[in-house]
This record gives sequence, C-alpha cells and structure tokens, in this order.
Amino acid sequence: MEESKKIIFSGIQPSGELTIGNYLGAIKNWVKLQDEFDCFFCVVDLHAITVRQEPKLLRQRTLELLAIYIAAGIDPEKNTLFIQSHVPAHSEAAWLLNCYTYFGELGRMTQFKDKSKRFGDNIAAGLFDYPVLMAADILLYQADLVPVGVDQKQHLELTRDIAERFNKLYSPTFKVPDGYIPENGAKIMDLQDPSKKMSKSADNANGFILIMDSPDVIRKKISRAVTDSLGAVKFSDEQPGVKNLMSILSTVTGMSYSDIEKKYEGQGYAGFKNDVAEALVEELTPIQNRVNELLKDKAYLETIYKAGAEKANYISQKTLRKMQKKIGFIPLSK
Ligand code: TYM
Repeated sequence: MEESKKIIFSGIQPSGELTIGNYLGAIKNWVKLQDEFDCFFCVVDLHAITVRQEPKLLRQRTLELLAIYIAAGIDPEKNTLFIQSHVPAHSEAAWLLNCYTYFGELGRMTQFKDKSKRFGDNIAAGLFDYPVLMAADILLYQADLVPVGVDQKQHLELTRDIAERFNKLYSPTFKVPDGYIPENGAKIMDLQDPSKKMSKSADNANGFILIMDSPDVIRKKISRAVTDSLGAVKFSDEQPGVKNLMSILSTVTGMSYSDIEKKYEGQGYAGFKNDVAEALVEELTPIQNRVNELLKDKAYLETIYKAGAEKANYISQKTLRKMQKKIGFIPLSK
C-alpha cells in the first residue's frame, strides 16, 4: 500500500523565527495531507545560509523548527522529517542541476530581485542560485506535489522547467511536480501594510505574528492591525486589512468568508479583531507548549532527525545515481 501513495516534499528555512504566514500557508496544510501522501518535510538549513546566520542561532532555530513541525501535528512516525545538511545529495544534485539552469532564468526570480536589493554589492552567489537547490530538494524525492504558499510559485515553475529539460535531454529521470497552494492562507499579509506579504524580516514587528508569540503579544498586534474607516467586515479588495484578518480567521477556524461576514454584520471591528486574536491564541498555545517540551528532550529530536536522514539519504542517493549515470559519469561501484 505504502508504495502507491503519491509523494510530497516541502521545507522551511530555519533563518529566523517563524510567522503565522509560514504556519497557515505551509505547516497547517501539511498536517492535513500527511495521511493521504508519503511526505518528506525538511528543515532547509542549506537554504538559510544564503544570508548570514549566527552559528549558535542557526543550530537553535533548526531544532526549534523540527520541534514546531512535530508540535503542529506532523507525525514523525508517518512522515520523513529531516535536516537538509544531513543529506549530501541535495548539495550534489544542486551542482549538477546548475549546469542545466540558465543565468537568465535565475535573474528573473522575483524573490531574488527583492532580497538582493538589501545586500548591495555583497549578494552571495548562493542567493542567486537558491532556486536550483530548491529544485534539487524536490526532484531527488520524485515528488508529485509540493505544498507551499503563493510566494514559492515561481520557484516551482522553474523546478518543473529544469526537470522537463533534463528529462528531454537524456530520458525520463524526474517526476515533474505540481505545486499545491492552499485556497486559504496561501498569502498572509503584513498587519501594518496589507499590500506586502507577512514576513519575519519586516521592519515593523507589529506587522507580523510569530508562531511563538505570547498571547498578550498576539492580542496587541491584532488590535493594532491596520483596517479602514468603512467599519464593515467584508471580504473585498477595497479592504485589504480586513480581508487579511478574515483569511487568518477562516484558515484557523475553518469558517467560510460568508459566515464571517454574517457573524459580524453591523458590528464594526472591535469584536471581530478580538475573535481573530482569541482564535490564534487558542490555536498556537498548545503548539507552543509542545515545542517547549520537545526542546527539553534533545535526545528524542535526535532520534527523529537521524531516522529521517537515513531514509532521505537512501531515496535521494537513488535519484542522484540515476542523474550521474545519465550525465555520463563513471560509477565507482556498480
Ligand atoms: P520559506 O522558508 O520562506 O517559507 C516557508 C513556507 O511558508 C510559506 N510562507 C507563507 N505562506 C503564506 N503567507 C505568508 N506570508 C508566507 N510566508 C511564507 C512559503 O510559501 C513556504 O511554503 N524556498 C522555500 C523553502 C524550500 C522549499 C524547498 C519549499 C526550500 N526547498 C522545496 C518547498 C520545496 C522558502 O524559502 O520558504
């Protein structure tokens, strides 16, 4: 039975503390998919070093991210949870795929264009090359589906192009993966500037909520969230702040937009905002408690990432060897 399940691959960078954007756009969705698919969820630490990381913090965040996956409900018995740098095939496949990816393609990546603005003359080559590593991650596992938020769509399209190019040049080697973008929560916006994606790197900390923010901080940030002077809870492009809060509430509680509109009809924003905050507190508090417990048990986390690395190494090596053979490298052993 296991063999016939479709494969999912996804990952998150341990490059800072996670926001509810990462949770609602990715992790919460993964939890729903874990029974139906054979899932690989990776802590992508190789991606994180495309910008400078403090070594001690990187170690802490890597473990915390693994703990968040588990605390959010991803069952380590059913899924493969692992740390990217434990599986050398990712770096190696990325090098190979580099030679089948064009400079122009990478230059068109909007995330690169945005991020590189921040670094002036010191843009790491890794930041430019990062989508190729992401393609390697996905293609090594022959993933059918890649559940991500909207911001990763362009990288996925590039992954498909690279896979198709390699398959055409040699012979079918990679499954060409599809993106899986949730209907709700795929793009949570900044609470202070709802024209921008919520991101941990925003200048104003009131713009984002972290998965590990305390209840009081969550309440404060939601109460300060920008709305408008219309005073009506409506899912409309004219009201981007309210629309964003509605999408948070809907993703957390499962309520539809029309139910939310009905519930708050004629009421202004105070009660609505209060309910958004309480829904988030209720959702996140048990996760936070579990994360803190898990982080006290490093030995347990180690058993999870070791088992994950073993399985991931086995599967990724198979694809890597296939790639090497097709390219024309001499195998060291048959
Ligand atoms: P990263 O670490 O920036 O984000 C992790 C996941 O969170 C989603 N996300 C959001 N979703 C909704 N609203 C937001 N405001 C928001 N912010 C982030 C992202 O879409 C993503 O799903 N390159 C990837 C990591 C990666 C990866 C992979 C993903 C590396 N290899 C292979 C899938 C498959 C990244 O930087 O995501």
